[in-house]
Amino acid sequence: MSHVVQEKWSSGTAFLLAAIGSAVGLGNIYRFPYIVGENGGGAFVLLYMAVVIVFGIPLVMTELTIGRLKQVPPITAFTQLSEGKKSQPFWTLVGFTSILTPLGILGFYFVIAGWTLNYVYSIITGKLSDLQEGQTQQVFADLMDSPGTLIFWMTLSLVITAFIISRGIKAGLERAVNILMPLLFLILVSLVIYSAFNGGMVETFEFMFTPDFEKINMKTLLEATGQAFFSLSLGSATMLVYGSYLPKDISIPKMACGVAFADTFVALIAGFAIFPIIFTNGMELASGPGLVFETLPVIFDQMPFGQVFGIMFFLLLAFAAITSTISLFEPAVSNLEERGIFTRRKASLVVGAGLWVLASLSALSLNVLKDWHPLTFNDTLKNQNIMDLLEYLSANGMMLVNALLAAIFLGWIVNRKAVLDELGLGDSWLFKFWRTIIKVVVPIAIGYLLLDFLGYGFLTAE
Ligand code: PFF
Repeated sequence: MSHVVQEKWSSGTAFLLAAIGSAVGLGNIYRFPYIVGENGGGAFVLLYMAVVIVFGIPLVMTELTIGRLKQVPPITAFTQLSEGKKSQPFWTLVGFTSILTPLGILGFYFVIAGWTLNYVYSIITGKLSDLQEGQTQQVFADLMDSPGTLIFWMTLSLVITAFIISRGIKAGLERAVNILMPLLFLILVSLVIYSAFNGGMVETFEFMFTPDFEKINMKTLLEATGQAFFSLSLGSATMLVYGSYLPKDISIPKMACGVAFADTFVALIAGFAIFPIIFTNGMELASGPGLVFETLPVIFDQMPFGQVFGIMFFLLLAFAAITSTISLFEPAVSNLEERGIFTRRKASLVVGAGLWVLASLSALSLNVLKDWHPLTFNDTLKNQNIMDLLEYLSANGMMLVNALLAAIFLGWIVNRKAVLDELGLGDSWLFKFWRTIIKVVVPIAIGYLLLDFLGYGFLTAE
């Protein structure tokens, strides 16, 4: 079946940078801070960390292992690993849907990546200077109302991504993360230091780490799990594909812990970059896109060196977004290339063209197609436009389904001995513990959350 010998990461560090690049994205810097705000701070942070440890790390290990066992792209991996089982066609289908999920995510992710690039440009050209509160809301609202501008910046983020992918693993992905990840880290640290000088650290610390357990309920658990999965790039074929490029002598458990640790660290640090600025300026902790795209620009405009730090902040978001979009783009390309359907370059072009249409529809659903609600047969979906649907179905629904199925697959279908050898933990209590989590705990817990997602509503019912 395989027509092309897969490239491999040149080292464990190269893999780590790429996988952390995938994990660290808009989810950490743009979404995490505002959902911490929405969910009342400390209790949510604690719950989030617990979810990362109990489900996150074991699932990252699971997906990397499925990818590396045969070192082939997802569809083939599921097919080959279920060889001889009656359920094989089903698992092939699972491979297929896991490739579609990241494409659905990209349908909205490219649009938001475009906003960040647009903001870098707007600050440089002074469009966000001398503004009062309220006015930045207008700037953001105007952007949402400009189909041409949205599509232009979305296209730019898509073209950059497709170009990097077309060059392959070492010359494309590795090179990009080697440049972008250190920059990302440097900017993030500078922003935290800048924030620290401007005060508000003590409040931030209290806000993020003083748990009010009354705020924890089933809804916050669902929210924390969704956020953790999205942030760790689970259930989207990304870890399967990145795992398939991982040389056999590198320890999967160590890599999984490294990725989860770095990802969570960056999410927390992003809080320390953003919250102090909000607190010292007496601003409201706006929820949703408002926090980053409306509140922060006002403050940057008023602070010393604010323009420089504003540019740095939105560049940080843009870099974080690009290292994630490449990981979402890679699964489909890797599959098309392996099947000999297209060369890598052609595959990047074809996937890119398809995604351009999808992401354009998504950008248009912020303005001219705002009231177009394509799926009217279901109560939850009937008021959602294209961008809402893509986010809801791929990032909330399919990611959970794929991650759940990956756990069941590796726990119940794949040969135990093969998994044991691949993980290199020996037949230790650690291995058994991990296996119990993916065989039993994950299916029950995620299955329960999914029932809720499917509208049975008993978790989120007030
Ligand atoms: N982890 C990325 C973020 O936090 O923004 C988003 C993401 C990337 C999700 C890759 C899924 C994925 F496969």
